[in-house]
Amino acid sequence: MKQILDAILAGDSAAVGELPVPDHYRGITVHADESTMFEGLSTKEKDPRKSLHLEDVPTPELGPGEALVAVMASAINYNTVWTSIFEPVSTFAFLKRYGKLSPLTARHDLPYHVVGSDLAGVVLRTGPGVNAWKPGDEVVAHCLSVELESPDGHNDTMLDSEQRIWGFETNFGGLAELALVKSNQLMPKPEHLTWEEAASPGLVNSTAYRQLVSANGANMKQGDVVLVWGASGGLGSYATQFALNGGAIPVCVVSSPEKAEICRAMGAELIIDRSAEGYKFWSDEHTQDPKEWKRFGARIRDLTGGDDPDIVFEHPGRETFGASVYVARRGGTIVTCASTSGYMHEYDNRYLWMNLKRIIGSHFANYREAWEANRLIAKGMVHPTVSRVYPLEETAQAAYDVHRNLHQGKVAVLTLAPTEGLGISNPELRAAHEPQINRFRNR
Ligand SMILES: NC(=O)c1ccc[n+]([C@@H]2O[C@H](COP(=O)([O-])OP(=O)(O)OC[C@H]3O[C@@H](n4cnc5c(N)ncnc54)[C@H](OP(=O)(O)O)[C@@H]3O)[C@@H](O)[C@H]2O)c1
Repeated sequence: MKQILDAILAGDSAAVGELPVPDHYRGITVHADESTMFEGLSTKEKDPRKSLHLEDVPTPELGPGEALVAVMASAINYNTVWTSIFEPVSTFAFLKRYGKLSPLTARHDLPYHVVGSDLAGVVLRTGPGVNAWKPGDEVVAHCLSVELESPDGHNDTMLDSEQRIWGFETNFGGLAELALVKSNQLMPKPEHLTWEEAASPGLVNSTAYRQLVSANGANMKQGDVVLVWGASGGLGSYATQFALNGGAIPVCVVSSPEKAEICRAMGAELIIDRSAEGYKFWSDEHTQDPKEWKRFGARIRDLTGGDDPDIVFEHPGRETFGASVYVARRGGTIVTCASTSGYMHEYDNRYLWMNLKRIIGSHFANYREAWEANRLIAKGMVHPTVSRVYPLEETAQAAYDVHRNLHQGKVAVLTLAPTEGLGISNPELRAAHEPQINRFRNR
């Protein structure tokens, strides 16, 4: 591993193709025999620091259409939190099912799961049939894994019947020194970013792009009022940038003055601090309070000069969904990709059908959407939102922070990179965007 790292650090990434591939590497894992360790605890009490391990694992065999990548940096996504607390189900169920598909996918069905759905690094080897990428290419990887053997996915690869999220529903993820990906997950690393900055947008940036911008999602247009929940968080920090970039008007919901400040630094002007304003959409565990929906809607109108949101960018789920359906404008769209606070949503359907609103389900992004989202990063039109960087040894703490909502934007992890700040190959573009890239740092 040292030889590989030395070559990359010396700026000779192309040399890695000649160097031997290590037969083992360090990665962050969960263990199948610990899947029940948190039984009886509430979601909040489940501690990723108890279930995530850093250990040596064997390097998987490289198959057709695949690439083995030396991972310089990765990032924490909420899916690693879900994996680490074995909710809503243990990810070993995904690995088992995937393993049944073919002798090649059987490699994924192991008693350990190397997690992580983002990476920036250097291609070490490519398998048979890979022509678009070669050893030495500096890359980031999006996390869509598809087989495309059925017709379903050929208009939109997210509709493939064997669609999976790499590093969550497959093994050999990015929170490790090496990772195994399909070559059609690879995209060029943005040249002006460090390894840790380049590794951090992938999953959330692509998801927010499909959810908000793509015709497969809310198809946002100029002037749209977009209500963004968690506007300084993983998804929300990109949704806010897309709204501002695309001439829309974000209304950013956050939970502290610091987070409000971050939204202002991104250029947003309309901000709701949900904690300070004390919205309580549920009066008890089973009953929502429509008066609170109305108070929230009135506050949005107050900020926008009377407009209701054309689009509600949803992901908190059960706690907010009733309010989201209520506040969307007549004919508006509620686009959802998650249910952080619970997936059994309740809303008053009269507000949906009588006002001709639509609910759209969205999930990650196809290769084209991920590529377009990465291109905006590479051109310096959308910026990474890294607030903190952890060494690989402290990944479990990083996941704990995200689980407890102690973070801002994205939290990155150095996997092979020995320090922060390495990997920039276009200093001029960097200099042009330095202040925007650093907006989230040390917050
Ligand atoms: N389907 C997909 O492809 C996909 C992709 C990415 C993520 N996701 C899911 O989307 C969710 C968010 O991911 P993320 O990376 O953005 O996480 P994140 O970085 O933790 O940000 C989420 C933000 O949402 C806000 N929030 C959390 N609970 C809330 C609640 N009960 N009410 C109102 N706001 C709440 C918080 O912001 P404030 O405290 O500032 O309000 C939090 O910072 C997770 O469940 C994740 O698994 C799905």
